[in-house]
Amino acid sequence: MTGVKPTGDPHLGNYFGAIKPAIDLINANKGKGYIFIADVHALNAQKDPKFIRDKTYEVAAAWLACGLDAGKTVFYRQSDVPEVFELSSLLTNFTPKGSMNRAHAYKAIIEKDGSDDNVNMGLYTYPILMAADILIMNTDVVPVGLDQKQHIEIARDIAKAFNSVYKKDVLKLPAEHIQYTDSIVGFDGRKMSKSYGNTMGIFASSEDMEKKVIKIPTDSKTPAEPKDKESVIYGLMATFGVDKDYLRKFLAGGIGYGEAKKILAGQIDGYFAPMREKYKALITDRKGLDLTLATGAVLARKTAAATLKAVRETLGLTYLHGSS
Ligand code: ADP
Ligand code: TRP
Repeated sequence: MTGVKPTGDPHLGNYFGAIKPAIDLINANKGKGYIFIADVHALNAQKDPKFIRDKTYEVAAAWLACGLDAGKTVFYRQSDVPEVFELSSLLTNFTPKGSMNRAHAYKAIIEKDGSDDNVNMGLYTYPILMAADILIMNTDVVPVGLDQKQHIEIARDIAKAFNSVYKKDVLKLPAEHIQYTDSIVGFDGRKMSKSYGNTMGIFASSEDMEKKVIKIPTDSKTPAEPKDKESVIYGLMATFGVDKDYLRKFLAGGIGYGEAKKILAGQIDGYFAPMREKYKALITDRKGLDLTLATGAVLARKTAAATLKAVRETLGLTYLHGSS
């Protein structure tokens, strides 16, 4: 199972670092698993309802266009599964405050601002909500980027603390599956990231893709000169499966950057064209997306209700609601 923040407009880094590996992993498991859109998580930073709504649809359409099979994988919105928020609230009692103080995202803000005056409690307790997302689905494996490793460790610690108080294995301990440790590099040589403004959207038009590729900065080597294996152009050509002989020739000398960029742009465009067409159809059909996500939510709630029931019984609380 994994969660996706509703940021929308996925770029190459998101695709190769998060979307593709998670879909490949879940498909290798015959599609069995859970993927959800973390819309409530987004509230700690984003308060514009239109943004949250639009980006949620965009992320849903993007993952479906990239090959997620909602007929096999349980695909839902976090906010459609209220059991998650109840579990999160209960888990606060098993979470040391110190472990929240040590969470990277919180620490980064303290280091930057020198105070926590601008940290809301949603951000501060983010790892607890994330633990609830994971633990409620009886998760075995969570495919995530390296930046999320600490959150999975915290989820495990919370589950361990809970189980050890009641001397029962009520909550399953999840393992992380780190999908991509090398960052996809942006066109300026830094990590590709929305915050650096160096991204290429995977659903951009052919023309926009080509324009971005043409603008990739290069050194002043002539076509005849050998090229650098560390160059952004070479890295991208290798990622997009440009012919091996062509790559060898590029390194050895004999191919200019202008020509290589044309080849690269065509390759990127060809790779994403079928997904772009699917995306266009999906994003204009919000009712269809609602139906897909609502169907997922029904299934997700079944699993969530069963976990919550076991938790409430363990705690000595009654369980009057829910389906089982
Ligand atoms: P951004 O840095 O553009 O804001 P996000 O933080 O929204 O991207 O990224 C969502 C997920 O996509 C991350 O958890 C990470 O695993 C993956 N990701 C983002 N950028 C890259 C990159 N350049 N290389 C590899 N993976 C990335
Ligand atoms: N925190 C993750 C991110 O920033 C998103 C997320 C929320 C998540 N809940 C999750 C990922 C549960 C895996 C499992 O990308």
